[in-house]
Amino acid sequence: MNQVLESMESKEIVNSEAMYRQIIEYSVETIIIHLDHKILYINQAGADFLKGKKDEIIGGDVLSIFNVEEKAMIRERIKQGMDGKKGATQLIEQSIIRFDGSQVDIELYCHPVQYGNKKAIQSVLRDITVRKETEKMLQDRQKLASIGQIAAGIAHEVKNPLTSVKGFLQLLKESNSHPYLFTMENELEKAIDTLQNLLQVSKPNLHEEPIIQIDLCKELNSLMLLFQEKLYNIEIKMDVRDCDKHIFGKKNLYLKAFFNLMKNAIEAMPFKGTLRIEHYFQDDYVHVKISDTGVGIPKEKMNLLGTPFFSSKTDGTGLGLTQVFTTINNHNGQIAVNSVVNQGTTFHLKLPQNPGGM
Ligand SMILES: Nc1ncnc2c1ncn2[C@@H]1O[C@H](COP(=O)(O)OP(=O)(O)OP(=O)(O)O)[C@@H](O)[C@H]1O
Ligand SMILES: [Mg+2]
Repeated sequence: MNQVLESMESKEIVNSEAMYRQIIEYSVETIIIHLDHKILYINQAGADFLKGKKDEIIGGDVLSIFNVEEKAMIRERIKQGMDGKKGATQLIEQSIIRFDGSQVDIELYCHPVQYGNKKAIQSVLRDITVRKETEKMLQDRQKLASIGQIAAGIAHEVKNPLTSVKGFLQLLKESNSHPYLFTMENELEKAIDTLQNLLQVSKPNLHEEPIIQIDLCKELNSLMLLFQEKLYNIEIKMDVRDCDKHIFGKKNLYLKAFFNLMKNAIEAMPFKGTLRIEHYFQDDYVHVKISDTGVGIPKEKMNLLGTPFFSSKTDGTGLGLTQVFTTINNHNGQIAVNSVVNQGTTFHLKLPQNPGGM
């Protein structure tokens, strides 16, 4: 009877060991089991992540993936882990060097395990590159957004006195027509315009406008005419279909957004190129695509698009795309950007026919 029980017990152990192995093998995280720093086991996801071959990694030194200056600290944690000290099981962030030489940020914890009949250490490594990038992006965005808010506050305060100066200048012009007065007025108008743009993108609700029906095909054609003098080296391709599908929204905001996108596209092609405007209806949305064959946008700059004051141009304010993103979001539309450096950029807008609660 005892023998039967014992054999059932050992069978269970074998079964649970096999199950444990399977869980580890198919885990998406990197799991390494090591003893005296010698790697006894690594799962497939781990070998893939470390860019090495499983059988070449096994038998190697687990410390080899860490930077020289961190090896002593890792050695100490492993020792603490073996001694069953609590601190060793806490997560730490590290940078490691993979077998192809690439460096990557990871999160790591170690804890003791029974491996066969030996006590060993199980280390779990998690790739945190994406999380780190997202954190950095959020920080950058928050920083820029608060700069934007401060700037909008200042713009508001500065715009009023400038507007009254403009009024007085006009009065002065009537009594005394000095040529400088015209230049002064022009410059002042530019400054007020910039402030007005800034206010509009940071407080779009100030811009109360009725929601009306918009014939986008017609408007896109008219907008193109505004760029006539800049278009001598640029080929225009208009591919507008489904023009009976109208949208509802704030017309001036929409027109300004399309104007900003076209202006960017043209500015991206200083020598020559093709500007393509598409309009069609699909899956309940009106789609508008504005594509250029210009300089393109580097990958690392893509997530800055739409952030106030992000500009790569010497005389750009970096508010154009902020206005575009604010307007499209407020109308419950969507924007996708596709860009390849030196080949061109496409802004793909998906606009609902009715904007919903605005
Ligand atoms: N079609 C495009 N091709 C290449 N880069 C673009 C394109 N559209 C936008 N960008 C990049 O995004 C940045 C921000 O654009 P945005 O329209 O907000 O400001 P800007 O064009 O620099 O200035 P402003 O619109 O005030 O004249 C640009 O400076 C440019 O680097
Ligand atoms: Mg612009």
